[in-house]
Amino acid sequence: MRLTFFESIKQYVGFTDESSAALRAFHPIAKPFFGPIIDDFYDAIEAHPDASAAITGGQAQIERLKRTLVQWLETMLLGPHDEPYYEMRARIGRVHIRIALPQAFMFTAMDRIRVRLLDIVRERSAGGNFPDERRIATALHQVLDLELAIMLETYREDLVTKNRNAERLATIGQFAASIGHELRNPLGVMESSLFLLRQHLGPEAAGAHNVAKHLDRIGGEITRANKTIDDLLDLARNRPPHRQRTDVRTLVERTAATTLLPATVTVEVNAPPDLTVDVDPNQFQQVLVNLFINAGQAMNGSGRIFVEGAALPTGGTRLRVRDEGPGIPVEARYRIFEALFTTKAKGSGLGLALCRRILEAHGGTIDLEPSERGASFVLNLSSPEESVVSGTAVG
Ligand code: HEM
Repeated sequence: MRLTFFESIKQYVGFTDESSAALRAFHPIAKPFFGPIIDDFYDAIEAHPDASAAITGGQAQIERLKRTLVQWLETMLLGPHDEPYYEMRARIGRVHIRIALPQAFMFTAMDRIRVRLLDIVRERSAGGNFPDERRIATALHQVLDLELAIMLETYREDLVTKNRNAERLATIGQFAASIGHELRNPLGVMESSLFLLRQHLGPEAAGAHNVAKHLDRIGGEITRANKTIDDLLDLARNRPPHRQRTDVRTLVERTAATTLLPATVTVEVNAPPDLTVDVDPNQFQQVLVNLFINAGQAMNGSGRIFVEGAALPTGGTRLRVRDEGPGIPVEARYRIFEALFTTKAKGSGLGLALCRRILEAHGGTIDLEPSERGASFVLNLSSPEESVVSGTAVG
């Protein structure tokens, strides 16, 4: 029988039920030291400028993370080291990917934990009468290496997904331009014929219930087909952004006014009046349009979309676009930015792929974040100086 990834790496390092038992035995000994271990962990992060850049939520975030790290230490020692454990750890890896934590810091941070835990074992053993020293030290090395292996695996999965996406986008790109242009003409003809048809029928006949319904339906589908072609062509073109300082509130309000949303969907903006971003306004508007349309559809045409903007202490800007819909199904969360992946019966699977491509072209990121209600997208934009320094600026 094929082993799961977790089983196979446990087998590789020789992690057995004995190892789990050794860690459980160590738990009461180590527990009084969790506080100092965690303080040391965050002191090291704060002392390093690149590591501390990952902490964007200030002291409140550090306090929250300290609490989650206690849980992490607890479960690492108490287990059970089974498949749900692996899933829980993989989720932590994905959080680190979301915040773009450089992989090097996983090793350095894990090393601080390793050294402190082994110090406890050594000190305890120096006091004499500690026959389990070797067994516990080995189990600690094993479990910490498993933790690293899981974190690395999530980065690898992320890279594979991104590569697959890039391949898909390249393939789409080859076909998109020609097919898109081919379809534009017949759609244009259908659009003008529809217009003429309405005129020939006159307001009374065109307004009759069944006729109006069908005419509107044809019009709606033509608009949808045009939007798919727009998205395809934009994906294919992959134009470098023409950045200019853009006022966030104005951009969001203008986009909300021009996006075809039902009157029962409202957009509420909460951002400092002077908040600006250095983006290509047309491309960025397209990102917002796609997010607004998705949100409107997710809420079945009725509800609120919230856009929150804030300047980050690191110099960048964070926008959050969230809605009051049912949220994204768990099994789809890691695939929604893939081109051609969709959860909607009539979706093209291009909108969010396009959003990510645009954000990446700006040296930024877009991610889905966990939320109590609805879907919540976080858009991070570094300041142009940062993008140049870190070499992530494109175009
Ligand atoms: C290698 C050892 C590390 C472990 C065991 C660890 C553990 C965790 C855990 C348990 C979470 C919570 C995940 C969740 O919300 O489900 C988390 C999130 C986070 N970690 Fe780590 N972490 C490590 C390294 C680091 C380093 C080195 C940094 C920064 C330089 C960092 C920054 C963060 C941030 C910013 C978040 C939370 C983002 C948010 O507020 O949602 N972590 N980490």
